[in-house]
Amino acid sequence: MAQTLREQLRALPDFPENLPSFEPDQAPEEPGPLFLRWLDEAIAAGLRQPHAMSLATTDAAGRVSSRMLILKDLDADGWHFATSRTSRKASELDQQPRAAMNFFWADLGRQVRVAGAVTPLSAEASERDWQDRPGADGSPNPEWQLYALRPAEVEFWQGSHDRRHLRLRYVADGGRWRKGRPGREE
Ligand SMILES: Cc1cc2nc3c(=O)[nH]c(=O)nc-3n(C[C@H](O)[C@H](O)[C@H](O)COP(=O)(O)O)c2cc1C
Repeated sequence: MAQTLREQLRALPDFPENLPSFEPDQAPEEPGPLFLRWLDEAIAAGLRQPHAMSLATTDAAGRVSSRMLILKDLDADGWHFATSRTSRKASELDQQPRAAMNFFWADLGRQVRVAGAVTPLSAEASERDWQDRPGADGSPNPEWQLYALRPAEVEFWQGSHDRRHLRLRYVADGGRWRKGRPGREE
């Protein structure tokens, strides 16, 4: 008999056999360096578009929307992304300047989620980002806007075949980061 969709989904393989190790107790005091290490490892593993993530925003009524975007940089301002000011996400960020990012590196069994306040960066930085795009022909795009998400929390998740998946959450606390291990979850 033909497989039902439910059976077909159940039978799909999950993570590859060899997954990287993760020792939360030895994690740095801040999430930025750990994120950059995991991103480097995703790049070194040859994953396609390791800098792609979903970005979720909400409008003033709390309706949520998400879409995939490319991470442009990470610095003291936060995690950078860029888009058109005429887009739905830009209009939602005007209404509610907060967002959540989710990076997923399936071949490494890793997820990182990053959530916090979003601020627009300068017109100069936005123009530079537009001009640095592959295939840019030099024409300006005044609608292009670079933003930075400054995280209030960053959570790292490492999948494991014994199902003891590891999570490490950093929460911004004044000018410092608090690190914690949320309960075991599937
Ligand atoms: C892998 C991937 C990367 C993308 N990167 C961007 C990006 O960096 N900036 C952007 O504006 N749209 C990007 N898009 C398109 C967005 O997902 C989205 O369709 C578009 O920005 C309109 O979103 P909105 O209507 O929610 O504002 C990307 C799509 C994919 C699948």
